Amino acid sequence: MHEQPPPRPEAEADRRIVTALFADLCGYTTLGEKIDPEVLQALQNEIFEELSAAVAAEGGYVDKFVGDALLALFGAPVAHERDPERALLAALDMRARMARIAERWQARLGQPLELHIGVNTGPVVAGAVGAGGSKSYSVTGDTVNTAQRLQAMAGTGEILVGALTRRLTQHAFTFATLGTMPLRGKAGETPVFRLEASLDAPPPARGLSSFGIDIAMIGRDGQLAALLRCLDSVRAGAAQLVRVAGDAGIGKTRLVETFLDRVRAEQPDITIRQTACSSLGEPSYGTLAAALRRAYRIDPAASLEHTRPLLAAGLAGLGLSGEEIGRLEPLFLLVLGFGDPDDALRHLEPDQLRRQIFHAMRTLFERRMEQAPLLVVIEDLHWADSVSIDALRFIMDRIESRRLMLLVTHRPGFETEMLNSARASQTTLRLDPLAIEEAKTLLEQALGGDVLPHALRDRIVERAEGNPFFIEEILRTLIETGVLQREPAGWEVKTAADETGTPLGIQAMMLARIDRLPADARRLAQVAAVIGHSFDLALLKALPCGVHDIKASLHQLGDADIVEELADIPSQAAPRYAFRQKLLQEVFYDNLLLRRRTELHGAIGAVLERRYGPSPEHMNQLIELGYHFAASPEKEKGVRHLTAAGDLARMANANADALRLYARALSAAEAAGGDAWREPGERYADLCHPTGHSEEARHLYDELLAEARDKGEVTTMARLTRKLGQLAFDTGDRERTTACFAEAAGLLEGVDAPIELAHLMQRQGHLAFRAGDYKRAMLWADRALECANHLSSHPGPAEKAEIALAIARAFNTKGVALARLGQTRDAVQIVERSVEIALAANHLNTACRGYTNLGALYTTIDPARAIDVCRRGYDMARQIGDLGHQARLLTNLAVAYCTFTDRCLSEGLPAIEEALAIDRALGLRDHLPVPLLVLGQIRQCHGAAAAARGHYLEALDIVRDSAEAQLLFPCYDGLATLCLDLNELSEAERYFELAQQVCAKHGLDPDALIVLPFLD
Ligand SMILES: Nc1ncnc2c1ncn2[C@@H]1O[C@H](COP(=O)(O)OP(=O)(O)OP(=O)(O)O)[C@@H](O)[C@H]1O
Ligand SMILES: [Mg+2]
Repeated sequence: MHEQPPPRPEAEADRRIVTALFADLCGYTTLGEKIDPEVLQALQNEIFEELSAAVAAEGGYVDKFVGDALLALFGAPVAHERDPERALLAALDMRARMARIAERWQARLGQPLELHIGVNTGPVVAGAVGAGGSKSYSVTGDTVNTAQRLQAMAGTGEILVGALTRRLTQHAFTFATLGTMPLRGKAGETPVFRLEASLDAPPPARGLSSFGIDIAMIGRDGQLAALLRCLDSVRAGAAQLVRVAGDAGIGKTRLVETFLDRVRAEQPDITIRQTACSSLGEPSYGTLAAALRRAYRIDPAASLEHTRPLLAAGLAGLGLSGEEIGRLEPLFLLVLGFGDPDDALRHLEPDQLRRQIFHAMRTLFERRMEQAPLLVVIEDLHWADSVSIDALRFIMDRIESRRLMLLVTHRPGFETEMLNSARASQTTLRLDPLAIEEAKTLLEQALGGDVLPHALRDRIVERAEGNPFFIEEILRTLIETGVLQREPAGWEVKTAADETGTPLGIQAMMLARIDRLPADARRLAQVAAVIGHSFDLALLKALPCGVHDIKASLHQLGDADIVEELADIPSQAAPRYAFRQKLLQEVFYDNLLLRRRTELHGAIGAVLERRYGPSPEHMNQLIELGYHFAASPEKEKGVRHLTAAGDLARMANANADALRLYARALSAAEAAGGDAWREPGERYADLCHPTGHSEEARHLYDELLAEARDKGEVTTMARLTRKLGQLAFDTGDRERTTACFAEAAGLLEGVDAPIELAHLMQRQGHLAFRAGDYKRAMLWADRALECANHLSSHPGPAEKAEIALAIARAFNTKGVALARLGQTRDAVQIVERSVEIALAANHLNTACRGYTNLGALYTTIDPARAIDVCRRGYDMARQIGDLGHQARLLTNLAVAYCTFTDRCLSEGLPAIEEALAIDRALGLRDHLPVPLLVLGQIRQCHGAAAAARGHYLEALDIVRDSAEAQLLFPCYDGLATLCLDLNELSEAERYFELAQQVCAKHGLDPDALIVLPFLD
């Protein structure tokens, strides 16, 4: 039996998931009235001793006795793997032990004794509570209260279980669903389950078969072949010791199982003996005992009387004589943990006894090998007891027959020399993480196809770092939280994945490792985890971590395979370290109290601030500062740094990065409260729009506008109103655009805000252009240019960039207006100028707009250049993640391909289909008619009249709202020619008439519109 583990004496408070078990004796009070207090005390002691033993046997910790109830914890102070399962096993064991006590006391008490038990799993804060000298280790949190309430609800002999406990253990137990109970102090209800029984042969907790997911083995071919080769050598008479080493969850057991399946199928003559060491740690000889029990089917809980015959039968099966059995039996009973019941070993010195046990074990192996080659598998040797390991080495060194393969698995950190044998050949197979492609294959196999959005898939692969167990656990969480759901057609992603939180299975596994560390090493790792996935010694030393000898603790962390020193560091820099797994760092971090985290983030921020100087220019430094301050009490600093980092990303046109950084700044600002959100908020919205999140942008602009209105900030109001107008334009609401621009102009009256004015004027010019009023468009553009050119004589860099933007845009509008007025050559020059200015000031989406127009304009003068410029623009739009311009450039590219090359179907068609998909997905009704028209023309050219008509009519339907000439004309024109093709003459006539009217109304030349269908 295992001792109650003492709480770590230094046990600092931390956060963790525990399973709390409350057990309470029914009818205790009435008992007190019936029997003498002395008898009652004896009974009480016996009960508590038995219950404590049940807890300790599963590695739990008896927290306290509350009246006549006992609170036991699984997962604190020291976590083991599979704590919730252990708690339920303990609960069942308690009930069984109670039944035996009741039997013994039945006569004296005259009433039955029964327990009611409540078990619940969830987060708690664990650590010393109480005051001064009377501090004791305990846990605090709703999880414990709920366990107590479950216990109070439990009927006689019942074990009631909370939802999370059930979820984590349902592979191994059966439950009845009882309905729900109200949550105290919260809205809603929580489900309650009654534990029925443990399954006889539970399927492994690992894997996702409970969701109907079975994953074939991926990779590991080399290792499997090596195992088979070793077995061949054994057949040839050369004993083999094979170690499979690798991180927790990397696939050791899976490899061994696959190997054993092959052996069973192909070499049935081989005797296989298989066992695993317990994560609670094995008592002396425990590993050997486990092997014996497995071999002779002895239940671990079996009594001595039950054990003896099974053992004797097993030994007889090996052909041992009665006399031999008599000699060996006491030794094996000792190994099995029964001590020396017959006093047969009393004359033996400890050393001699040990040798005899080793010999006895060797005899078993030898006898077994006489019958057939023997394959002994011992898993998880890192938890084995040292005597058993000595015994294994002894056996490997002294076997006569050599037909033995000893196959062991262990995690890193296990001292492998302990097993070094002088006689057997040795092979070590290290299992490395799966390669990225293998990890992707695993995900695809699990979900039956390429189901996950690639961004999500890549994040999973990155987080799991090639560890199949991590991949499975992340998937499990996605399924359990409803992100992934199984539909008749297969798995589907239903909601956006919630990034936060390490999967519970991974947490439990990692916490078990963390709890085994020496106090200082653990404390150091926690501080390091706040710094990040990697950290340098200098920074660590500058922080208040309360660790005696940092170097020594780092060594311990290295030995425990938790951190590793990074090699690629210039010699003069401080040594750098990294957590071996990102998820390990997450668990260390989660384990810390919030208060301590916040404090450490602040301290790290302060050190880094000194290191990087007052205004860091490096994006990485800004991100680092932003990350730490955002999580510290000085959140505004975090917002500032993150916003600055976002600006840098945007300047580099890494829009996706910029968006992420602004979003982080925004959420830090929300936590900080006050005004801090406005700056990152507006930048975020500005970027949302081109990347296809117009709704979010609109929402933010509205909020920002309300705020500016409250504060009476007129220029800001005008700017936001203009931006809202532009949003409305892109989604096809021209009326609202006009109203917004007019409102913005009204706001700016008499206000000295020339840049904003220039922006607004050029926008108005653009609106006039799209409304078909090309002269007015020119006028507005010129006014905007004038305004921008007369700005302050010494603009700062930000101002300069804004001016360049206004000018580039105004030139563009002026250029396309000129083109519509028939001055194509001037138009080309001016748009080229616009692109030049935009590129010089790094305004790539404005440059993209120029490229779009040039792509159309060049078709009239230099078709080859048209394709070239569209391509260039398209690449740029992709680079900056600007979807709207991608659609435009693809459309123009398709037109160029279909007009000037013979690649209409091979290149033009796919391009136009993609453009259409983008415009549809983003609701860009402002541009959607263009790809529809182009697709209609392509279809018409290739004789698909019905399809073509459908596209034209859909385009017409959208265009009617805005009645934009350059779009309306091609709709009518297309339909007219189509009717002609189909011999529908009167319809053709009608559409021609309508097309003519459009041209007449706007003074447009129909030929020019056919050549230049769309400018912007
Ligand atoms: N190569 C693989 N292909 C597919 N699934 C795998 C592979 N390797 C492991 N798995 C799955 O990943 C999970 C973890 O693997 P396994 O239990 O074998 O790890 P382990 O190395 O034995 O870990 P531990 O040290 O905790 O015992 C299992 O569900 C297993 O089936
Ligand atoms: Mg394993």
